[in-house]
Amino acid sequence: MPIVTLEPNQITLEVPFDTLLFDAACRAGLPVASSCSAEAVCGKCVMKVMQGAQNLSVPSDHEMKLLRRDSRGANERISCMARVQGDCSVTTGYW
Ligand code: FES
Repeated sequence: MPIVTLEPNQITLEVPFDTLLFDAACRAGLPVASSCSAEAVCGKCVMKVMQGAQNLSVPSDHEMKLLRRDSRGANERISCMARVQGDCSVTTGYW
């Protein structure tokens, strides 16, 4: 199973293939910003991918729209849409 590392505290956890980044962080007990209950509307759950971007699901058109709307960087993903398909490392500005 893929391993997700949550920086900066280097919390690691094994998750089933295709687990949402959002769910992985919640499972680790970390807070994830949200005002849409992970319904892919608010964009607040964004996470910065430190390593393993290629091991996340390809962004959908809808995710790309949210990232563009909020002027997000190329290494950022909407965590309630990005699925873990291999080892990766992510962070937020508030962990
Ligand atoms: S929680 Fe709102 S877009 Fe992910």
